[in-house]
Amino acid sequence: MLESLRRRLEYRRYRRAQVRQSRAKRHKDASFRLEPFVELVVERCPDLGRDARILCVGARNDVEIRIFERRGFSRVTAVDLWSSSPRIQAMDMHALAFPDASFDLVFASHVFEHAFDFDRVVRECVRVLADPGYIFCAVPVDFELSEHDRVDVKNLDGLLAHFARWRVEVLHDRLQSGELSALLRVRKA
Ligand SMILES: C[S@@+](CC[C@H](N)C(=O)[O-])C[C@H]1O[C@@H](n2cnc3c(N)ncnc32)[C@H](O)[C@@H]1O
Repeated sequence: MLESLRRRLEYRRYRRAQVRQSRAKRHKDASFRLEPFVELVVERCPDLGRDARILCVGARNDVEIRIFERRGFSRVTAVDLWSSSPRIQAMDMHALAFPDASFDLVFASHVFEHAFDFDRVVRECVRVLADPGYIFCAVPVDFELSEHDRVDVKNLDGLLAHFARWRVEVLHDRLQSGELSALLRVRKA
């Protein structure tokens, strides 16, 4: 009982901290990293048609949506705990309000490190993914943990350990300048 109350309070503090940080950076334009990520997805996932259903997790603002749309993708959904953009649905990646298999690609740029419970986030992302489906993620690695940046997977193996329940094919991985990016094809069956 006390433990569950403590966890609830911790989670409330967590959400407040994430929202505070996101508000402070609401106008940030991270095209410099997002454009190459989107290009990579286009290049490595040739079967992902322009009508693919894309979910941007932790998008913060419209930048990610616009980059996908400029590349011709028309079915882009974006969520964040908080956003000033009406195009972004207020939603927690730990509890996505979408039916199973709703998306062909989950795109998470610099988001997973913010998880309160990373295994739960991975479960949710896989649940809403088609079978097979793609997950792209980029995370910082080897950093000092803080109330905002809470999960350090260290390297590709550290990331894949969270996907051990599924059959995962790594289509791309790069560890450079303190950032790991990975594109995974996930099969659930
Ligand atoms: C560093 S920003 C990344 C923004 C954008 N994807 C990019 O690459 O520039 C991280 C975003 O994740 C969001 N976030 C943190 N925890 C979240 C959660 N539990 N559910 C949904 N979004 C979350 C934050 O609000 C913030 O907007």
